[in-house]
Amino acid sequence: MTNMLTGKVVLITGASRGIGAAAAHLFAREGASVVLAARGAEALDKIVAEIRADGGVADAVPLDLADRASVRAAVRRAGELHGRLDGAFNNGAAIQQPGPLDTTSDEDIDNQFEVNFRAHWIAMNAEAELMRASGGGAIVNTSSIGSRRANPALPAYGAMKRALNSITETAAVTWAAQGIRVNGITPGGTATEMIEQWEAATPGIKNGITASIPRGRMAEPGEVAEVAAWLLSDRAAAVTGAIIPVDGGAGA
Ligand SMILES: NC(=O)c1ccc[n+]([C@@H]2O[C@H](COP(=O)([O-])OP(=O)(O)OC[C@H]3O[C@@H](n4cnc5c(N)ncnc54)[C@H](OP(=O)(O)O)[C@@H]3O)[C@@H](O)[C@H]2O)c1
Repeated sequence: MTNMLTGKVVLITGASRGIGAAAAHLFAREGASVVLAARGAEALDKIVAEIRADGGVADAVPLDLADRASVRAAVRRAGELHGRLDGAFNNGAAIQQPGPLDTTSDEDIDNQFEVNFRAHWIAMNAEAELMRASGGGAIVNTSSIGSRRANPALPAYGAMKRALNSITETAAVTWAAQGIRVNGITPGGTATEMIEQWEAATPGIKNGITASIPRGRMAEPGEVAEVAAWLLSDRAAAVTGAIIPVDGGAGA
């Protein structure tokens, strides 16, 4: 039996830590050649070295999601490395300064738009162009449970993640006939640096989030990556345009 992603070239953004780093290791174990993108070059190089030491295929490319040209260059570089692109996990994002709608700064609104929404729009188009050239592919976008309902604590983050759900569904419908599947995942609380940043700004939020999860604990990054791996694999051939909760029941 082959592994789930054998023979596939997969780009992962936000790969320097958290869910993206867990995805890098998992996808490589599942047989993918992974291309890892983020700003943190040192962290990426360390993950690349670990994957190669385990016999996997990995490379790092620089990426600043706030910079349109950098997004296009990272996707192009991923295509050049292996001459094709079969999968993309658009996962990188930043948290806003937590606080209500009426105190969210203009800078935070702009940053959330650029990093959490516009970057994914640009990346998806560049990825789809490469995928079309080799007959199709699969894209998974990381949204958030915070996109599903009102989000009084992270209003700009929630709005951009909901907009990401919209373009995920639109891309799925637009590109389905070209053999490109596009899906989203909405993680709930997941034990990463992003949650630690939120806890630092809002002490006690970790306990509050954990209390809202029916299974009683946050996800480990690898548990979220598992769902992305399946969506990127041919085993999910019939799934496109889905926004799948990975939240331990918190959104139910
Ligand atoms: N943790 C949770 O509870 C949770 C819940 C719901 C959804 N999510 C979503 O899950 C995804 C992964 O988050 P995480 O929890 O793993 O967070 P994390 O540990 O903070 O990782 C975020 C990743 O995004 C990258 N990134 C941030 N800003 C960037 C920029 N301007 N350019 C390029 N890369 C950038 C970071 O890399 P560099 O800093 O090295 O650039 C890092 O690799 C995000 O989309 C997040 O919104 C997380």
